[in-house]
Amino acid sequence: MNSRSSLFIQALKKEKTKRVPFWFMRQAGRYLPEYRELRSKHKNFLEFCYTPEAACEATLQPIKRFGIDAAIIFSDILVIPHAMGVEVSFEEGEGPRLSQVTDSSYLKGLSINPIPERLAPVYDAITMTRKALPEDVALIGFAGAPWTLACYMVEGKSSRNFNLVKEIATKDGLFFDRLIQLLTRAVIKHLDLQVKAGADCVQLFDSWAGTLSGEAYQNWVVEPTIRIVTEFKKLHPDIPVIGFPRQSGTKFVSFAKETGVDAVSFDTSVPLEWVRDRLQPICVPQGALDNHLLADNKDEMLKEAKNILSVLKDKPFVFNLAHGILPHTPVENVAALCELLKQ
Ligand code: CP3
Repeated sequence: MNSRSSLFIQALKKEKTKRVPFWFMRQAGRYLPEYRELRSKHKNFLEFCYTPEAACEATLQPIKRFGIDAAIIFSDILVIPHAMGVEVSFEEGEGPRLSQVTDSSYLKGLSINPIPERLAPVYDAITMTRKALPEDVALIGFAGAPWTLACYMVEGKSSRNFNLVKEIATKDGLFFDRLIQLLTRAVIKHLDLQVKAGADCVQLFDSWAGTLSGEAYQNWVVEPTIRIVTEFKKLHPDIPVIGFPRQSGTKFVSFAKETGVDAVSFDTSVPLEWVRDRLQPICVPQGALDNHLLADNKDEMLKEAKNILSVLKDKPFVFNLAHGILPHTPVENVAALCELLKQ
């Protein structure tokens, strides 16, 4: 057994597995006391992400504690805009802050050329983590998808409704298309370098896909993902790609069909029986225990986890959450869930 034939990778390659493999989005993070301890030694979040020893340690923490089937490299989706020349900072309790990119005049200041050098600490962390991980634990590399990265770059921060980016995408299509094309190339480069450094699989986080519909969804979510998957597969035909166009609802099916991703991370916007009947025949579904249930109601959470397994376990499936582990989640709840999943 090696990491590229681990349970998790087997499931992504649609092979039958002896049990359902699992990992959790944001499995390294503030709900873990050992993470808070490590985090307190680094003044700013990006500096923490760019310290390979620290990123490696944070990646390994949940694996050591719970025995999870896959590790996700500790980094952030906003390292791509940062490497391209955008100012990025994380203020305590406020989330990310970025220098805004709102029209074509800003594009001159952005380049994908510095990515290999500026993100070298991420690749070093991957190489270091791959060496330290048990052989049967897969390592996931990741990137934010172009639409979600553009949301943060245009708005300059998280937003409730992303009104500004939607307005600009509609009114200044020429600029917005150039921005998306640039980000598409950046994502391909970053994923390629993560695999060369040792990642066994990659996930594309399109956290704000669900804010779009119709032609906009096609143009800014589906089309860039098609290009990323096509180019990535030319470079790494055997490395599975997981798409996570969050809150896509019934559009998860057309997303899976058109983009050619190996797996789709779904969420609570679709019923489990629908996932079994419509999504599982065309790709490997990954998901989708409610992260609030995990945090707030252990008994109901374990019941729901059993229910998810009973509906989806008969065909290739990866157990995960609908969204990242919340900071107030009791460690004990995560431990109980892992025990259940390993049985
Ligand atoms: O364990 C893992 O999942 C790996 C690491 C990881 C982080 N961010 C670490 C992180 C991953 C995969 C991400 C992805 C990410 N980052 C997404 C996509 C997934 C999603 O949640 O929709 C997005 C949108 C971001 C952008 C981002 N980074 C935000 C909005 C925030 C602030 C919110 C918060 O929880 O504070 C971050 C910061 C961040 N990224 C933290 C962690 C552990 C918390 C910062 C800290 O520890 O001080």
